[in-house]
Amino acid sequence: MAEMARAETRAASAEDEITQAAIGRVEESAQGRTRDILLSLTRHLHGFIREVEPTEAEWLAAIRFLTETGQKCDERRQEFILLSDTLGATMLIDAINNRKPAGATESSVLGPFYQEGAPVYDNGADLAEGGTGGERVLVSGRVTDIDGGPIEGAELDIWQTAPDAVYAAQDPAGSFNLCGRLRTEADGHYWFHTRKPVSYTIPGDGPVGAMLDAAGRHNWRPAHIHFKLSAAGYETLVTQLFTDDDPYLGTDAVFGVKDSLVVHYESTADGLRLDHDFVMTAAG
Ligand code: BEZ
Ligand code: FE
Repeated sequence: MAEMARAETRAASAEDEITQAAIGRVEESAQGRTRDILLSLTRHLHGFIREVEPTEAEWLAAIRFLTETGQKCDERRQEFILLSDTLGATMLIDAINNRKPAGATESSVLGPFYQEGAPVYDNGADLAEGGTGGERVLVSGRVTDIDGGPIEGAELDIWQTAPDAVYAAQDPAGSFNLCGRLRTEADGHYWFHTRKPVSYTIPGDGPVGAMLDAAGRHNWRPAHIHFKLSAAGYETLVTQLFTDDDPYLGTDAVFGVKDSLVVHYESTADGLRLDHDFVMTAAG
């Protein structure tokens, strides 16, 4: 019995020595921010291994998973970002890097379907190409500063799913359907026509999809419209407006939903209306 206890103590101290050696190696030579990052990474990685105690087969499976994640990436597909999104890491990075005063519009993930260079429209334009189905909606509101003052000339860069649940960026032929850029008027107003967005699935045919399956999770995102707002003298705001009647609001696969970004589409005699004001913060 005593011999077994001694063996366990020896094993535990050998395990501690490995962690200490790995930390010590960083302390010896790394400097500044690199040192801080590597020390924290080493501590947390070793802490994770101590907590989980993976078998060697499990550790190899983890390495295979990361290898396949890299191999799934190409010009159009970034499986590592999808991994970051589905583990909640992207939204945590977003929250840390976009701390805003009360009253400012909250941010959300950019996602992989943003395309630069969307067509520039006047207020009142319809972002949908002829023949696009779905429920027509008039979206309008104001862009203001934190004191409610209008921001003139703010650019709203807009993109969303079509009624068939795909983005223009996913069209191999290239398209900007349901994408567009507008500028606010002198009183901060903007308005445009579009189609009510629909819920859609993020790519599930790679290692991230397999991880979601293994965790018993789905790969749906609740319906939303993406906005990227920019104006001289203000922080760029990347956000999304989520439809309040969506069944996936509480289980978004990428954790992008915030209560303040959930909006209601009003039924009127002229069709659906969505009114939403955006509040931008001054550049720091
Ligand atoms: C999106 O909202 O378009 C999105 C965000 C993260 C992952 C996939 C899609
Ligand atoms: Fe999206």
